[in-house]
Amino acid sequence: MPNIVIVGAQWGDEGKGKVIDIFAAKSDYIVRYQGGNNAGHTVVVGDDSFILHLIPSGILHKGKVCVIGNGVVIDPKALLEEIEMLAKENVSVEGRLFVSEEAHVIFPYHRTLDELKEQKKKKIGTTKRGIGPCYADKVARSGIRVIDLLEEDTLRDKLQANLDEKNPILSRIYGTDEIAFEALYNEYLEYGRRMRKYVCNTKRLLNDAIRKRKRILFEGAQGTLLDVDYGTYPFVTSSNSTAGGASTGTGVGPTKIDKIVGVAKAYTTRVGEGPFPTEFGPDLMEKIRQKGKEFGATTGRPRRCGWFDAVVVGHSIMVNGIDEIVVTKLDVLDDLDSIKICKGYRYNGKIYTDFPSSIKVLTGCEPVYEELPGWREDTTKVTSYDRLPKNAKNYLKKIQSILKTKIALISVGSDRNQTFSKGA
Ligand code: GDP
Ligand code: IMO
Ligand code: MG
Repeated sequence: MPNIVIVGAQWGDEGKGKVIDIFAAKSDYIVRYQGGNNAGHTVVVGDDSFILHLIPSGILHKGKVCVIGNGVVIDPKALLEEIEMLAKENVSVEGRLFVSEEAHVIFPYHRTLDELKEQKKKKIGTTKRGIGPCYADKVARSGIRVIDLLEEDTLRDKLQANLDEKNPILSRIYGTDEIAFEALYNEYLEYGRRMRKYVCNTKRLLNDAIRKRKRILFEGAQGTLLDVDYGTYPFVTSSNSTAGGASTGTGVGPTKIDKIVGVAKAYTTRVGEGPFPTEFGPDLMEKIRQKGKEFGATTGRPRRCGWFDAVVVGHSIMVNGIDEIVVTKLDVLDDLDSIKICKGYRYNGKIYTDFPSSIKVLTGCEPVYEELPGWREDTTKVTSYDRLPKNAKNYLKKIQSILKTKIALISVGSDRNQTFSKGA
């Protein structure tokens, strides 16, 4: 199997964790390339359910190498806690977890600034993990990287400079407490000591692995519509969650990537603020939210739910160069009499089939739907495409024909086994 990127084709939570776990069986390295512990990737193995925030979802497969690339922002406390959580479940990361020296580090002031900004009326609905402020420092060239945690004097200088800048913002603009240097410096030096054994030049590690014909799986976090360039800006995260991020976020050149797989739910969800053209009204919202257990894996917030939006997924196919898609959570639609697919947006008499850049258009538009009959049968025990109810097959065929992209896999439950290929 070649080197593959798995990317979310909607607003995140598409079931990437489950798909990564399946693809990981045939991979050697599983690599996170962007985002941080704003992600929550669920992997269900028999009776056990794991939610991974920073460590690649391949970690549950014994012997697989897991890498956190330079494009990720790392909260060291969250990382060390996740390592401990896994150890308690008898999953050891020792000798097979590698963290990039160049990944940027999240500090408490990033989390505080994230929270303070979110108190405003016009909020984004972030996970409050400090992701945006950390990436902002990276781009402003004042960020602190993992390598800096390993050099006492570098950390001292950089942290002092950052606090000199952040403390007046905290006290004078937001009227909150300033952060004391010494305790924070010692805390992060200690994180550095505990992380040291995992830290290395991960771009060398990955490129050497590719030369040895090892198979690399790139694990996208968030989704295309949360990408800082291609998403519903400003209601997005602060990284490139699209496939291009796999290259810039790991140091593996684009020519070394062979395939892009997009993951899409059979309907749509989003957490946080921002436009969502196919969002359900209250009754269907509640029904699908309960059936699909649509509550955030990171923050526990109820997810907003809506019909499948082919404009959204079509946009994702284009900007990621998606070769094939995996459709998850088909089973959640089992009880519906009829099901809608959005094929375009109507705004001011104009039909949009390309995803509009304007938040005004996205907020004010009317979705143009095609309605299909439901199947009203339990699909959770179906183990092959042929055994799916006729109307479920028709629904998938319709999605495939609108998107002109192959559906490779179909998922009808959270367990590894509740997955099958669509076939030709
Ligand atoms: P991720 O962030 O893309 O990895 O997705 P999350 O883990 O945040 O959310 C997906 C949720 O759906 C998880 O609870 C999964 O266990 C669950 N899930 C994945 N695939 C299926 C499926 O086909 N059917 C059902 N009912 N649940 C699924
Ligand atoms: P996974 O990897 C769904 C959303 C937040 C908010 C916006 C910005 O599990 O699919 P941030 O904290 O990143 O600054 O928040 O992005 N968001 C996600 N939504 N799944 C995620 O990750 C998300 N990560 C961030 O809800 O709207
Ligand atoms: Mg998630």
